[in-house]
Amino acid sequence: MKSGVEQRIESHADDIDRLLLSSLLKEGARYLSGTDLSDSARVSRTSVWKRFEALREQGFVFEAIPSRGYRLVKLPDFLYPAAVAAGMIAKRLGETLITYPETGSTNAVAARLAEAGAKEGTVVLAESQLQGKGRLGRAWASPPGVNLYASVLLRPPIKPFDAPQLTLLSAVAVARTIRARTPLTPVIKWPNDILVNDRKVAGLLNEMTSETDRVATVLLGIGVNLNMTREQFPSDLRHPASSLLLEGGEPVDRISFTRCLLEELDLLYDRYLAGGYNAIREEWVSLCGVITRRVRVDDGGAAREGVVEGINESGALLLRLDDGRREAVYSGDVSVVV
Ligand code: BTN
Repeated sequence: MKSGVEQRIESHADDIDRLLLSSLLKEGARYLSGTDLSDSARVSRTSVWKRFEALREQGFVFEAIPSRGYRLVKLPDFLYPAAVAAGMIAKRLGETLITYPETGSTNAVAARLAEAGAKEGTVVLAESQLQGKGRLGRAWASPPGVNLYASVLLRPPIKPFDAPQLTLLSAVAVARTIRARTPLTPVIKWPNDILVNDRKVAGLLNEMTSETDRVATVLLGIGVNLNMTREQFPSDLRHPASSLLLEGGEPVDRISFTRCLLEELDLLYDRYLAGGYNAIREEWVSLCGVITRRVRVDDGGAAREGVVEGINESGALLLRLDDGRREAVYSGDVSVVV
């Protein structure tokens, strides 16, 4: 950080880096000629060469053979925006993608950008967070270079009452990504935890602003413990926590995990805008670990137990209490009673 201005690296949909990396990633191990690369990025061959020099300084490794062209050998272990966005298929998300080597909280940054008029779909990533925010005022452990800390700005045309539906949407997107990028089986724990083998590997913190009866902005805050090691977890965690590395035994490629997550979010958001909440709800229910289970709810009021029967239109958990009444639970901690 210099003179109070946070360092950030940014990429936009038509950036040269994004186009170059996209072409090289598509080719895999094959070489692409300088002419093909300059055509794909619509710049001169000198500009291609200059961009490669700049990318090398960021940790990219290219192989250049005069008679054959260029090949991408290695990506940096940094969520370089143009690398995350390269080849990404999305309608609304990621046209602007910003990565901070270090920041307070990606949600706080995204809130500032939203306030300044940033477009729907703007994505803020960080390599580490100094004040990572969890739910209910808790801290979110955010060590550098191992995990995913992301905030996505949406401006959905919905009522404030329906905003919690978007937490379910991001839970489904995280679960889908874990299934696509690892051999692990994720389970959603209402409202915003993703578990693997009963240990929390991801958390969601969605924040909303509204104008009278319309939502103005929703920030989807997503933290996924990808390659965190045992020693990097705080010792005072309330719930057992883990990472995809610890559960699966293999490190996760952070760049392609992030790209996949943004694509899943984009697909689900598109489905949500076109067809409403029901399509998301069905998939959420199929991934949810507490439906039909007996749980204890702790929401700051009197703790109570009941059997979970489903979720309602606004994403609240429907609990059948022991006296037969049905209660909709809108917030709080839920634990399965065994
Ligand atoms: C929780 O389970 O308590 C929610 C954790 C949410 C953490 C993410 S990391 C990215 C975004 N920025 C934050 O400060 N928090 C969310």
